[in-house]
Amino acid sequence: MDIIDCIRSRRSVRNYIKKSIDQSLIHKMIENAIWAPSGKNGQPWKFKVVTDKGMIEKISNLSIHSRWMRNAPCFIFVFLDKDRSYHYIKDVQSCGAVIQTLLLCAQAYGLGSCWVGEILSKSETVMDILGLSDHNIELMALVTVGYCEESGAKASRRSVDEFIL
Ligand SMILES: Cc1cc2nc3c(=O)[nH]c(=O)nc-3n(C[C@H](O)[C@H](O)[C@H](O)COP(=O)(O)O)c2cc1C
Repeated sequence: MDIIDCIRSRRSVRNYIKKSIDQSLIHKMIENAIWAPSGKNGQPWKFKVVTDKGMIEKISNLSIHSRWMRNAPCFIFVFLDKDRSYHYIKDVQSCGAVIQTLLLCAQAYGLGSCWVGEILSKSETVMDILGLSDHNIELMALVTVGYCEESGAKASRRSVDEFIL
């Protein structure tokens, strides 16, 4: 898939079909996503992949999006690795870059995904559930991933002229 097509066709997906994803595909997504840029090439990120149904249900229940989130076959949590942090804002931006690259990789592999920030209000509980509370990391986002059917409503964009000063 052409990179411009990939960028333009990617939309947040919140309706997943019952089909599991090959672990090797998830691994490839992350392997490609880490080529995102980062300040001083610090690569200040960590990932946790969850495919266990019970765990997905438990974490979904923490969110206002539980109804659709629980149908995703895979959650990828992205954390800021505080041991590799040198400048908080730049490191958070680097995590944003890796998250967006992850979404584009999902799109390129024919998978739907959604960046879920709402879960950040439950960061501590999520870390407890994942058994990661003693790690020096901070939750940046949860990315839901799965196969999907075409959905109806799609987000649009304002005109480019509105953004250019
Ligand atoms: C920082 C950030 C946080 C987001 N948090 C959520 C969220 O909690 N729940 C959700 O359904 N979508 C979330 N999204 C997805 C946005 O709603 C979505 O990207 C936006 O509406 C544009 O739609 P598109 O991705 O289909 O182009 C988030 C996106 C970003 C970048």
